[in-house]
Amino acid sequence: MGHDQGTYRHWETKQESDGILWLSLNRAEKNTNTLSRDVLDELARLLDDMPRQHPAGLVICSGKPNGFIAGADVAEFSAIVDFSEAMRLVERVHGIFNHLERLPFPTVSLIHGFCLGGGLELALACRFRIAVDAPGTRLGFPEVKLGIHPGFGGTVRLISLISPLTALDLMLSGRSINARQALKIGLVDYAVPERQLIRAALAAIMQNPARRKGRFLRSLSRMRFIRFLLAGHMRRTIAKRAAKKYYPAPYALMDLWERFGGNPSVMYREESRSVANLVTGATAQNLVRIFLLQERMKALGQNGDFSPRFVHVIGGGTMGGDIAAWCALQGLRVTIQDIEHQRLAVAVKRASSLFRKELKDPRLVKDVLDRFVPDLRGDGITRADIVIEAIFEDATAKRKLYQHIEPRMRKEALLATNTSSIPLEELADSLRNPERFVGLHFFNPVAKMQLVEVVRGKSVDAERLNCAMRFVTAIGHLPLPVTSSPGFLINRILMPYLLEAATMEQEGIPAADIDRAAVEFGMPMGPILLADSVGLDICLSVARILAGHFKTEVPKRLESLVAMGSLGKKSGRGFYAYGKGKPVSSGKKTGSYTIGDLADRLIMRLLNEAVGCRREGIVADGDLLDAGAVFGIGFAPFRGGPIHYIRTEGVEVLHARLETLEQRYGSRFAADPGWRELPAQKANQGFARMQE
Ligand code: NAI
Repeated sequence: MGHDQGTYRHWETKQESDGILWLSLNRAEKNTNTLSRDVLDELARLLDDMPRQHPAGLVICSGKPNGFIAGADVAEFSAIVDFSEAMRLVERVHGIFNHLERLPFPTVSLIHGFCLGGGLELALACRFRIAVDAPGTRLGFPEVKLGIHPGFGGTVRLISLISPLTALDLMLSGRSINARQALKIGLVDYAVPERQLIRAALAAIMQNPARRKGRFLRSLSRMRFIRFLLAGHMRRTIAKRAAKKYYPAPYALMDLWERFGGNPSVMYREESRSVANLVTGATAQNLVRIFLLQERMKALGQNGDFSPRFVHVIGGGTMGGDIAAWCALQGLRVTIQDIEHQRLAVAVKRASSLFRKELKDPRLVKDVLDRFVPDLRGDGITRADIVIEAIFEDATAKRKLYQHIEPRMRKEALLATNTSSIPLEELADSLRNPERFVGLHFFNPVAKMQLVEVVRGKSVDAERLNCAMRFVTAIGHLPLPVTSSPGFLINRILMPYLLEAATMEQEGIPAADIDRAAVEFGMPMGPILLADSVGLDICLSVARILAGHFKTEVPKRLESLVAMGSLGKKSGRGFYAYGKGKPVSSGKKTGSYTIGDLADRLIMRLLNEAVGCRREGIVADGDLLDAGAVFGIGFAPFRGGPIHYIRTEGVEVLHARLETLEQRYGSRFAADPGWRELPAQKANQGFARMQE
């Protein structure tokens, strides 16, 4: 080797006797490869040095077992809030990747595990891409999920490599694909088993086969008029999923392609400008904030060495059945117990349809079903690492059950309850070992709702709480530690918002208007439809519990609907009537309100409750509260969470709005004392780093 290897911290280089140079990225002090400035600087130096080594070819691979490169270093990039700095950085990366692309010898990237975003853009600058044909291989451009689009030349290279429509679809959806799918669309040149990887790399370099020729659609899309037509169609599809004012990235990508797709060199320049613009904007900064908070929650589940393998679930109803099925799908062995045989049969049926939907391959489905064992007698209790109780919401029944099962449990095993409202202290007082008792509050549907509130009662041991959080991450969910206070965090902040919606409906405002107000604010679904989907009986019971502790009135309308048996979607009628599972909107606008007025009433109640939860310390800080609100109730992610939203809008401004609402609608809008504790200065619009 011609140079001192010690000067590179992240890249390992090796030149074999055949003249081929191997560059392996093994980012120092990290488990995952990402493209930080350091990593890119070193790559630039390596490329500058390369001519001296006269290599016969170059292979770029990863030294990490978990994958190739996961993308740009998100924390580093989002810290840039200045357009010209972003522009300089992106253009520098363009320079490095152009250099790589123009090397006068064959270049290959060897891909295993994930190859995402900036990592895939680097691979695209190589002449050949070879991916390991294994389930863990994932290629994709997840940038839109962070409010940007590819910015390291990826938009140009992808569109000229594969069908432009497939390319745009990959970048607009943010989805990732496996090695075979990547081969099929021409994103990689070979998909081979791991053992043939090196041989395939050598063959590509030695034979250096010609690149694929342009296809018909690719040449057609060089015509501006064709791009204009296609872009118009695609914009209409995007508009159904994301509003331009809140999610500008997909629209920016369409503009980029439509205007400059016929001229690669101009498109490179415009890509930089577009992405620098997006990355410094509020949406990207807030989405990155949420991404980093998600990483923070995952990290909470990394302490200690508890590695659960065997779960016993008691109660095979809606929640127990789904929790058990999810755990089995994630690789754990599961026994599920119920007093009714029939309930277990239903749980097995629901579980198999989840397995079929997720896994497709009948052999894999059978493997998971083998791990999912109905257990009427509760034999699993003696073997389980964790026992999760999900029987109906009745403190006496739960306590009685614990007395029966606790003596049979292993000493080290955790005991968890899925209660949604009973304070843990009330359940723990008859336990022999209350220090191992935690709440694991899952949300319905378990397979979709990633968040799990990990409830800390007074008696639990800190180490056991860590075990509970490790369990949550082990099954691919996100742990949010909360105190054992009525409604914990999520139901507590959700309920005033739902009840305000019910009150408005009671006043004669059409449900569809109320829902539209929330959706226009950025919620994934309106509160009336949400209440109907959760079930009005469940909403009412949570509302009553909260009303017993806090200043909350339960609207008569909710009580009367439940009394009439109109329980929402499941009974075919709730606030809405349902035809073929879809809400039929009824009612005409009465009174003089704007959609904005409705949104104000809904959101201000949620924000006020969030401020109260922060003051009471239900979660450790406002950042975790924001994370909970986004992952637990879908609070508009591009706004960065309720507390962050208050700080960007201005504490004073929103506090004044609350006072106006209180004068108009009464004391349920009285400001929580916690508003006084919020820092008065405005947060930087979209400041991505953590604030508390
Ligand atoms: P469910 O009524 O659908 O299921 C309860 C099941 O427990 C029934 O199958 C019943 O036969 C069984 N069961 C009752 N006593 C038992 C015993 N001693 N031993 C074994 N099995 C017994 O109830 P669901 O909705 O699944 O709720 C369960 C728990 O989860 C409750 O504590 C509830 O508050 C909580 N929860 C419910 C949510 C929901 O959306 N339904 C959301 C989050 C938590």
